[in-house]
Amino acid sequence: MKILFVGDIFGEIGRETLKSKLAELKELYNPDFCIANGENAAGGKGITYNTAQDIFESGIDVITMGNHTWSRKEILNIIDSGIKIVRPANYPKGVPGKGKIVIEKNGVRLAIVNLLGRVYMDNNVDCPFQTIDRELNCLKGQADLIFVDFHAEATSEKIAMAYYLDGRVTCVVGTHTHVQTADERILDKGTAYISDVGMTGPADGVIGVDKELILRKFTLGLPINHEIAKGRSQLNAVLITIDKENKRAVDIKRIAEIVRNKA
Ligand SMILES: [Fe+2]
Ligand SMILES: [Fe+2]
Repeated sequence: MKILFVGDIFGEIGRETLKSKLAELKELYNPDFCIANGENAAGGKGITYNTAQDIFESGIDVITMGNHTWSRKEILNIIDSGIKIVRPANYPKGVPGKGKIVIEKNGVRLAIVNLLGRVYMDNNVDCPFQTIDRELNCLKGQADLIFVDFHAEATSEKIAMAYYLDGRVTCVVGTHTHVQTADERILDKGTAYISDVGMTGPADGVIGVDKELILRKFTLGLPINHEIAKGRSQLNAVLITIDKENKRAVDIKRIAEIVRNKA
């Protein structure tokens, strides 16, 4: 069994890059499930119905979110419509949407859970560790494989979560920093882990944003309006291979592709 997970899809350039590369990756790796983080799909912040459809039409089964879940208010009109978007599970009780979703393919049930970190994040969320315990309890007997997208800033919090969940879930992948880390590994009890999958969008900006604007902000301290960087783009993803018999991850492979776009 294989799961392909694509890191934060950033703006139209990210959606176009996904569109141009995903079929090729599917052909090459033949994944059973394709998941993507879509928290930056609409202009770099949040997601809308049309941008989500764009991602689904490219061949993604389920979209995970993050701290930009509510950046486009129209998500509130669609998140309870049955659309396959998972928002962080550790939002307060009463928040719309779902923190987990189970899909089935080829006779295998995969649960996808999204969590937000709390270290260096401006989030009013419940403890992600207590939340995942609760979610795993609910999932007992409901899923064969469990995929966790832990959307967090600090590598310490992400690595701690991976050890906390080793042997209890199939994989813990980090998102949010938009920079792919090179620490992918299989933990002792068979959980695949990477601190950050990276981002799918502009390759030459500052985590997606035009570099001149960000330099202006850092060097002069002046306010700026974020604009998506132009030029080359990238697709960052991981491919996780799972032993079908014992449900343990056996391999995690980083994917980082550069796409040259016309100016
Ligand atoms: Fe992001
Ligand atoms: Fe984020």
